[in-house]
Amino acid sequence: MRVFVILPAAGLGTRMTPGHSPSPAPKQFLELRGVPILIHTLRAFASVPQITEICVAVRASEMERLTAQAREYGFAGKVRFVEGGEHRQQSVANALKAIRCDDDDVVLVHDAVRPLIDTATIERTIRAVEKHNAAIVGLPAVDTIKQVERTADGAIITSTIPREYIVRAQTPQGFRCGLLRRAFAEAEADGFIGTDEASLVERAGTQVAVVQGSPANFKITQPGDLELAEFYLEHQAAQ
Ligand code: C5P
Repeated sequence: MRVFVILPAAGLGTRMTPGHSPSPAPKQFLELRGVPILIHTLRAFASVPQITEICVAVRASEMERLTAQAREYGFAGKVRFVEGGEHRQQSVANALKAIRCDDDDVVLVHDAVRPLIDTATIERTIRAVEKHNAAIVGLPAVDTIKQVERTADGAIITSTIPREYIVRAQTPQGFRCGLLRRAFAEAEADGFIGTDEASLVERAGTQVAVVQGSPANFKITQPGDLELAEFYLEHQAAQ
């Protein structure tokens, strides 16, 4: 059994800029401690010996620069790049077509903009996929969760969802390759677009297990998140 990794990194990062205009440097290329976010993420996965190949989906205009960067940081052997798509799901689909995994191999999909993923969590996810065929990293909800209806006057609560039933989905999300391919094919045939891979696998009728995530493994999304990521990095370096 081999382990492949897909890193969708073809977003525009519009939430990082005031007015949500496209960022001049999409967030996955911003730097943390002088190193691009994508390189931090690549480092985390490249350091896991079980991982055979990492496929990164990027915008066509970034392909050349990133290929050179991967070489510069010494990842050329394990990493390849493919062109991303309009949605995250399309970016992952393009990478899934490019990797040569057998049905029983494991595929982990991880947001390029979660650079603080740690080796132990990656290894825990791989073990959970070996056991359950499908597993994602998630965090229990600490807030009380409300379901709302959006109205012209703002949101109105329609119910309270007991938080013991809620998990906040993070990545990596891991699956047997054959299962993931089938879920993507079914979603495409039905015109379904999900915001994560688990939602595609769930609708294909397969149970997905959850392994414990960590608050540090957050998605760099808005201004201020870079400072928070720097804080976690400093804390990790001091340990
Ligand atoms: O936009 P969102 O927060 O869902 O982005 C999650 C990840 O998906 C990011 O790493 C982003 O670069 C990637 N993405 C992508 N292709 C898109 C949109 C997002 O690879 N078209």
